[in-house]
Amino acid sequence: MNVRISEVKNHLGDEVTIGAWLANKRSSGKIAFLELRDGTGFIQGVVLKNEISEENWETAKELTQESSLYVTGSVREDKRAPSGFELTVTDLEIIQMAHDYPITPKEHGVEFLMDHRHLWLRSSRQHAILRIRNEVIKATYDFFNDHGFIKVDPPILTGSSAEGTTDLFHTKYFDRDAYLSQSGQLYMEAAAMAFGKVFSFGPAFRAEKSKTRRHLIEFWMIEPEMAFCDHEENLKVQENYVSYLVQRVLNHCQPELKAIGRDTTRLEKIKAPFPRISYDEAIDFLKKEGFDDIEWGDDFGSPHETAIAEHFDVPVFVTKYPTKVKAFYMKPDPERDDVVLCADLLAPEGYGEIIGGSQRIDDLDLMKKRYEAFHLTDPAYQWYLELRQYGTVPHSGFGLGLERAIAWICGLDHIRETIPFPRLLNRIYP
Ligand code: 4AD
Ligand code: MG
Repeated sequence: MNVRISEVKNHLGDEVTIGAWLANKRSSGKIAFLELRDGTGFIQGVVLKNEISEENWETAKELTQESSLYVTGSVREDKRAPSGFELTVTDLEIIQMAHDYPITPKEHGVEFLMDHRHLWLRSSRQHAILRIRNEVIKATYDFFNDHGFIKVDPPILTGSSAEGTTDLFHTKYFDRDAYLSQSGQLYMEAAAMAFGKVFSFGPAFRAEKSKTRRHLIEFWMIEPEMAFCDHEENLKVQENYVSYLVQRVLNHCQPELKAIGRDTTRLEKIKAPFPRISYDEAIDFLKKEGFDDIEWGDDFGSPHETAIAEHFDVPVFVTKYPTKVKAFYMKPDPERDDVVLCADLLAPEGYGEIIGGSQRIDDLDLMKKRYEAFHLTDPAYQWYLELRQYGTVPHSGFGLGLERAIAWICGLDHIRETIPFPRLLNRIYP
């Protein structure tokens, strides 16, 4: 019977066959221990020289790291084994003997590992991180579906920019110009006017010349958008969503969190509601902390975000940034138009901004003025104006960067490990 390692628990005492790779091996005299992995888990195969054919014993001795094989054996309970089970091997069938697998149990430099990312994915740490990623993705779909949102997919090839023109990836669309999407938001606003509450989950591309531990050139973003929703309600959805993600990972990924050595006591504190501080308060705070370089009107850099977030155990919303540092579509605060109804959610432990969101301008005349101020003369923006012309309503939304959220939840030093094949400033291989 062919089974996966994750299923052996249902086959106690049975003889099963597992397709696997050899992760590691120890042998002495008359016994060999094969550490086998198949992607669903790890199990130890025990090979006893006296109870197996001569040929099988030779095979077991020759097996090299990452060789692929079919292993047949009977499933035994073993309380000491991490999986709780062991396989007493009766037969071995090599698929391929792997020679000189480049990633050995010794330490390797990060660049070397990144060059071998296609193989590095097999290691237990990377495996754990990407399983947590999968849980965050599943939790995202569950959260929004359970709260009455419809998933809508915005286009990736676009005729205009959503977040500003400086970091666009340009391409040709036959004989016209086009760009890879930086954000699906503008389209999600159209979708919210059709479905009320929508979310997207797709790739975003930013040609930012940033080489920080928080920046990817290609990343995945979740962008909910809600009609009849104001700034305050928007923040509530965000804090509930982020708490839910963390709780789901805590409830479903304990072995993975353990494998990467995450201190989960920090995560256990992550429960809505999250504190809110205004941009004005944040500036005062930073000045008190000795940041002499920052003035009202400046955008925050990583050190500023870290200093603010360090003050809290849970993520903190910084609200109402100056109009001039934020995108053209954000709604000015009705009480003072030098700030907008927006918030960035800053994660604790120095992980910086994981969400950017805002209430959107819903007034046609004001949006027209913004178009003029931002020189948005391209006809590609016409349709976005029409959303304010035909039954405009107050609406808000946000974007969560999947990889930033995972880097924080996993407690990683760098965002590059949160995505299977990272695109970085100097890397598009493998
Ligand atoms: O703050 P941003 O630029 O907001 C938007 O794109 C809005 N249109 C979202 C919306 O309201 N629908 O990006 C949102 C989030 C950031 O908070 C960050 O988590 C992530 O996307 N992000 C990046 N993640 C990795 N690498 C990059 N270069 C990122 N740029 C943004
Ligand atoms: Mg932002």
